[in-house]
Amino acid sequence: MQKLALSLSFLIGCAFVSIAADGKIDFQKDVAPILQKSCVECHGPDKDKGGLRLDTKALALKGGKGGDTIVIGKADDSEILKRISLPKDDDDIMPPKGGPLSKEQIEAIKKWISEGAIWPDGIVLKAEGKTGSTDSHAAKTPEKLPDYKPTPAETKAIAQLEAAGVSIRPIAQNIQWREATFRGLGTNATDSTIAPLKDVLGLLDLNLAGTKVTDAGLAALKNLTNLTTLHLEHTAVTDAGLVHLKELKNLRYLNLFNTKVSDAGLKHLEGLAKLQNVYVWQTKVTDKGINALQTKLSDVKVHKGVEVTAVAPKEEKK
Ligand code: HEC
Repeated sequence: MQKLALSLSFLIGCAFVSIAADGKIDFQKDVAPILQKSCVECHGPDKDKGGLRLDTKALALKGGKGGDTIVIGKADDSEILKRISLPKDDDDIMPPKGGPLSKEQIEAIKKWISEGAIWPDGIVLKAEGKTGSTDSHAAKTPEKLPDYKPTPAETKAIAQLEAAGVSIRPIAQNIQWREATFRGLGTNATDSTIAPLKDVLGLLDLNLAGTKVTDAGLAALKNLTNLTTLHLEHTAVTDAGLVHLKELKNLRYLNLFNTKVSDAGLKHLEGLAKLQNVYVWQTKVTDKGINALQTKLSDVKVHKGVEVTAVAPKEEKK
C-alpha cells in the first residue's frame, strides 16, 4: 500500500515537472510585455485602429472590425497571428512600423492563443515606449492592479452619475476600478453633473471632452489621485482650472486640445511626475511654456501638432 502511494506521488510529481518543462505560457510574463511594447500604442485607450483595442481582456477578445481577432484555441485562424506572421514588406503586417516581431515573440503569441488565450482578470495594459524601438527586451511586465473596493459614498455617487446618463463602468470584469465618460451628454453635462465625481476615488480614466464643465467644476477632481487619463478637450477650461489637478500624481495623459489654457496653466502640472502625454493643440500654450514643463518633467511629451486631434482621421486603409 505504502509502495503504491509512493509511486503515485512520484507519478504526480513527474506530471508537474513535465508541464513546467513544457513551458506553459504565462500571459503576464510572456505575452503582455509584447502587446504593451508593440501594439497598445495604436490599439489602446488613445487610439483603436481597425476598431481594435488590446489593452484589456474584454476588448481584446471582442476583437476588431474584421472579426476573428483572437479565436481561442485556434491560433492559425486568429487574425492577430496572421497579421504578425506576414512578410516584412506586406502592407498589412502588424506592427506596421518598427520592424516585425521576433520569431520567439510570434511563437509566444501563437502558443498563448492555442492554450486558450488566458488573460487573468485585473491586468490592464498600458502603451509603453515608442514604435521604432527594436529593443523588445526592455519591455516591462505590467503591474497587476491591486484589489479595489468602493466606499459606500462612492457607490452612491456612481449610482447618481448613472442616473444622470453618465457612462461609468468597471474597466474589466470583476474589477471595481472604473472609467467614466460624459461625452454622450455633451454640453448637457455641467459642473453640477460632474460634482458627484468627488467621491469616485477608484476612477482611472475620465472623459469630460465637449462638456460645459468650468474651472470651478474641476474642483471635483481634486482628490482623484488614482486618475491616469483625463480628457478636457473642447471645454472652457482655463489656467485656473488646472490648479485642481495638482495632486493627481498618477496622471499620465492629459488632453487640453481647444481649451483656453496657456503657459501659466502648465505650471500647475510640474509636480505630476508620471505625466507622459499632454495635448495642447489650439491653446495659448507656447514653445516657452512647453520647454519649461519639459525641464521639470523630462519624460513628458507635449503635443501641439495636428496629428493629435481627438477627431482622429479615419482609418488609413480598409
Ligand atoms: C503604428 C500603429 C499600429 C501598431 C503599433 C499596431 N497596429 Fe494593428 N492596426 C493598425 C491600423 C492602422 C490598423 C487598421 C488597418 C488594417 O487593418 O491594416 C490595424 C489593424 C490591426 C488588426 C485588424 C483589426 C480588424 O479587425 O480589422 C489586427 C488584428 C492588428 N492590427 C493587430 C496588431 C498587433 C497584434 C499589433 C502589435 C504586434 C499591432 N496591431 C500594432 C495600426 C497599428
